[in-house]
Amino acid sequence: MSDSCCVEQAQWEELKQAAVAVSERAYAPYSRFRVGAAALADDGRVLVGCNVENAAYGVVLCAECGVVSQLHATGGGRLTHFVCVNGDGEVIMPCGRCRQLLFEHGGPGLEMWTVSGLRTMAEVLPDAFGPDDLEA
Ligand code: THU
Repeated sequence: MSDSCCVEQAQWEELKQAAVAVSERAYAPYSRFRVGAAALADDGRVLVGCNVENAAYGVVLCAECGVVSQLHATGGGRLTHFVCVNGDGEVIMPCGRCRQLLFEHGGPGLEMWTVSGLRTMAEVLPDAFGPDDLEA
């Protein structure tokens, strides 16, 4: 990923490293596909999660579930930056369900490191259904 701002780039690399580190804790005996996810909260907290599978395959907890759970368990707030990686440390995309999950807690402005570079959640999940739709 190229970026004109070195500080920003360094922060992204740190966040990715956090995702790589937690991917090693994944519990993925069925798919053998480890995932690590990391996010920054609006107060600078780093939140991480790994996928946790289940013998009942459909009950899997994606890595993003851990991030969102940790967000709330450690004081709440909003997600501002997000990245997730596979077991080889390569950036991957959040699944559709997890894009929705991240949208709820980061909104359209959530910055994401994706397989096609830095993108906002609005680009990754356009015209999302979200909390505002329930206000009407
Ligand atoms: N997985 C995640 O943890 N996050 C995603 O966004 C994509 C998929 C996990 C679920 C399952 O344990 C494994 O990857 C294979 O689908």
